[in-house]
This record gives sequence, structure tokens and C-alpha cells, in this order.
Amino acid sequence: MTTIAFDIYDTVIDTAGIANELETMVGGLAPVFSQLWRDKQLEYSFRRGLMHDYVPFPICTAQALEYTDELMNTGLSKQAKQQLLDTYKILPAYEDVAPALEALRDKGIKIYALSNGTSEGVINLLTHAGIEKYFLDIISVDEIQTYKPSPEIYTHFLERTDSTAENSWLVSGNAFDVLGAYKFGFNTGWIKRNSRKIMDPWGCTPDISVTSLIELSEQF
Ligand code: LAC
Repeated sequence: MTTIAFDIYDTVIDTAGIANELETMVGGLAPVFSQLWRDKQLEYSFRRGLMHDYVPFPICTAQALEYTDELMNTGLSKQAKQQLLDTYKILPAYEDVAPALEALRDKGIKIYALSNGTSEGVINLLTHAGIEKYFLDIISVDEIQTYKPSPEIYTHFLERTDSTAENSWLVSGNAFDVLGAYKFGFNTGWIKRNSRKIMDPWGCTPDISVTSLIELSEQF
């Protein structure tokens, strides 16, 4: 039985979906702001993991927003920042997600979410996007209070889903996640949605490398 662990942010859910809202607040700086915010959010999660100083992902998101606003000197009001954080909870799914998950489900693949987000946050996102029905369960790093790509997360996934690494796939648009799972012995699917996404040169060749989830679903 094949199991797939789907990463959520930047794989299933489009974090650039915040751009429209940001544009009304910071104009043409929106794309750079959005990328810096996302990069800082992930950096905070990595540092929290290394320091054994876990806080839930929404706190990394909020603190990264504070940092980015200050760095870019954009002077967002408290209310504007709250509005952005509220929108972050209902970001859209990429358009290819529902048909791809449906095809994979029809092929008998066991589909799970494996995310840095909290269970509640991920359930809300998936429900809002109308795709929660494809997932057998949501495995959140919050359950063991550390972050990807710690090997503890991939171990926890296998335990929670009663799977083996040989039968499991990690599918992600985040190179650090693909690398973490690859190192752990999972099969890996790298979703390179645009040409600017680069796999870190760490000697990892993902088993599948595609530009969309539809393409991925055709490989199973
Ligand atoms: C997640 C982050 C890595 O959903 O995007 O786990």
C-alpha cells in the first residue's frame, strides 16, 4: 500500500495568495515582501527547532511579519497586520490540487497531510479550499513540538500512519522538506512549480521531479 505525505504550504496551499491583499497595503513591494515574509517564517521554524524552543507555526508567521515590516520599512498598522494574518488562515489551494488528489485517491493511494502548521490551522485551510475530504488524516509537527526537516518528524509520520519509509512518499514544493525525507529514506516527489525553484545541491535526486501535482498523479 502506497502512502503519500503531502506538505501543505507551497505544495498544496499557495502562500503567494497573500499578494493581492499585500498589494493594497505595500503596492509594488508586495512580491518581495511576501517572499521575505515566507523565508523568515521558515528560518524562524528552523531556528526554533535547533534551539528546542518550539512555538506553534502561527507565531513564527506573526513574528516573521513583524520582522519583514520593520526590515522593509513599510509601517503596517496593527490592524493591517492582523488582516494579513487572518488572510493567511484562508490562503487558496493551487488549482491542480483537487483533480490530482482525486486521481491519486482513485488509484488507492493513502493520502495524508504532513505540515509545520498546527492541525487546527491545516484543517481550516483544507476545509476552506474544499479539499479536506481527500486526506485520511493530518499529521502536524505540533504533536511532537519540533519542525521539519528534523528526522523526528518523518519518524512520527510513519508511526502515526503505520507506514514504512519504503512504501511512503513525501511530496513537497519545499526543497528542505524533500531533502529531509530523502535523507530519512522516503521516496520523494519534488514539485517545482516555477523555474526559480531550485533543489539545493546536496546530492539529492528526488524520485519524481515535476512541475505540477497533476503530473505527479500521472506517475503513480
Ligand atoms: C509545511 C511548510 C513546510 O506545510 O510549508 O509544512
